[in-house]
Amino acid sequence: MSRIVYVNGNFVPESEAKVSIFDRGFLFADGVYEVTPVVKGKLVDYDALVVRLDRSLGELKMSWPCTKTELRQMHEELIKQNKLDEGIIYMQVTRGVADRMFNFPKDIKSTLVAFPQVMKLVDNPNAKTGVKVVTTPDLRWARRDIKTVMLLPPCLGKEEAYQKGAAEAWMVEDGKVTEGTSSNAYIVKDNKIITRPISNSILNGCTRRALFRMAKEHQVEIEERLFTPEEAYAADEAFLTSASQFVMPITEIDGKRIGGGQVGPVVRKMRELFLEEAQKG
Ligand code: PDD
Repeated sequence: MSRIVYVNGNFVPESEAKVSIFDRGFLFADGVYEVTPVVKGKLVDYDALVVRLDRSLGELKMSWPCTKTELRQMHEELIKQNKLDEGIIYMQVTRGVADRMFNFPKDIKSTLVAFPQVMKLVDNPNAKTGVKVVTTPDLRWARRDIKTVMLLPPCLGKEEAYQKGAAEAWMVEDGKVTEGTSSNAYIVKDNKIITRPISNSILNGCTRRALFRMAKEHQVEIEERLFTPEEAYAADEAFLTSASQFVMPITEIDGKRIGGGQVGPVVRKMRELFLEEAQKG
């Protein structure tokens, strides 16, 4: 089925959606993006995304492509026109179209595109068994806090994971896990969740933020600190979070079984809490 997508103010069939070859997103990866989960036709945790988008745009001195109200309406219209029940809305803002030059062209209008993707978020079968992860060097730049479309290193990592029969790669820098190629990374030891603190080294995940809030509400302890792959191998549980995976158990890292290869109680509980809230709408 052909989707209706959004390009610079227009809702069009995907086959008619066009962006210039001079778009700086295409030439320089000069753009940012966001992914919002949709459950039962409703946006999940949308406001957190707007805050992060605003920050990403600001850090790159890029202007907003529309008002915040228009952006929300655009998301809702895409859900409606595509009758999207469950999945994600992907949106991307690039600096705009100009002759190729490295410095920022003056007075250009940013490009805004968005599209839906149908996905099974709630009944994702991977959540029952847990997924496998491999570790790989973190090849990314020094501003991973900005959600840019410059995603070749994460694509290389994810492809490596897939080649090895895993679902995600945890990237490692200076001997410590930074995060997944498209998710934040966690281990659990003695019922305590351990995850890397927010800095320029990782993306401040909206799902991570929601997890922190829920953990606090339910007296689950979280310790923010760096951890090594070796510590992860010896953890009781491990998991990842992202807009498209929510809270996803990990049962194997680099071929080593975590928690005896079973989904553990802490991650199960955190996923349940997350699903409960997402389904409430
Ligand atoms: N990725 N870290 C990285 C590097 C990510 O790309 C993502 C999300 C996250 C989790 O952020 P959030 O919880 O806000 O989704 C962490 C999205 C899902 C993607 O690129 O498809």
